[in-house]
Amino acid sequence: MTKNILIFESSPRKQGNTAVLARQASEALISAGVEVETLHLHGMKIAPCNHCDGCLRKKQYCVIEDDMQAIYPKLAAADGVILASPIYWFTFNAQLKTCIDRWYGLWQNDHAFFKGRPAGAIMVYGDADLYISGGINAISTFETMFRFMGAAPAGFVYGTANDVGDAEKDEALMESARQLGVRMAERVSV
Ligand SMILES: Cc1cc2nc3c(=O)[nH]c(=O)nc-3n(C[C@H](O)[C@H](O)[C@H](O)COP(=O)(O)O)c2cc1C
Repeated sequence: MTKNILIFESSPRKQGNTAVLARQASEALISAGVEVETLHLHGMKIAPCNHCDGCLRKKQYCVIEDDMQAIYPKLAAADGVILASPIYWFTFNAQLKTCIDRWYGLWQNDHAFFKGRPAGAIMVYGDADLYISGGINAISTFETMFRFMGAAPAGFVYGTANDVGDAEKDEALMESARQLGVRMAERVSV
């Protein structure tokens, strides 16, 4: 059966650096025969988790009727995920965080929903390096989260790319995103 990877891409800039790197990983996956769906989170109707625990009481992913309802079955069925975000205020952005908070309902209904599945992340930032930019905080959170979910970490892609077009000019960064796609494809194909 064809494997599928879900990419969560959270930049408001449709042609920005995060989107370019996510596309690079996606193209590598597609070339390897893996199906990819990229969810552009910015502009989607995704409310914050309000911790009502309706997910637990009603045994459903979430009681909030918004765009997450269409995302839950895709996330539950995905063979792997890539989280792609610009760094905003020293970590990944609110669009991605709001979406991930809502995974709570999925996790409450099945603690093993992501066990053993490959997960990777892509981050870009304006500042000089991983530490000054705060990219390190995003990596730390993703690592903790992947460990908690029992996911199989497939790698982190990160680099300085501030203005639209910067990522495309950085061959090493583009190659790193391509390799993430290649690695994810290998992991889901075994
Ligand atoms: C609200 C906001 C906060 C930002 N905070 C940081 C930051 O903490 N560290 C950093 O290095 N760059 C920061 N940046 C710069 C972005 O990470 C950078 O421009 C990145 O290329 C944006 O990604 P995109 O092209 O995919 O939209 C910030 C940009 C915005 C708009």
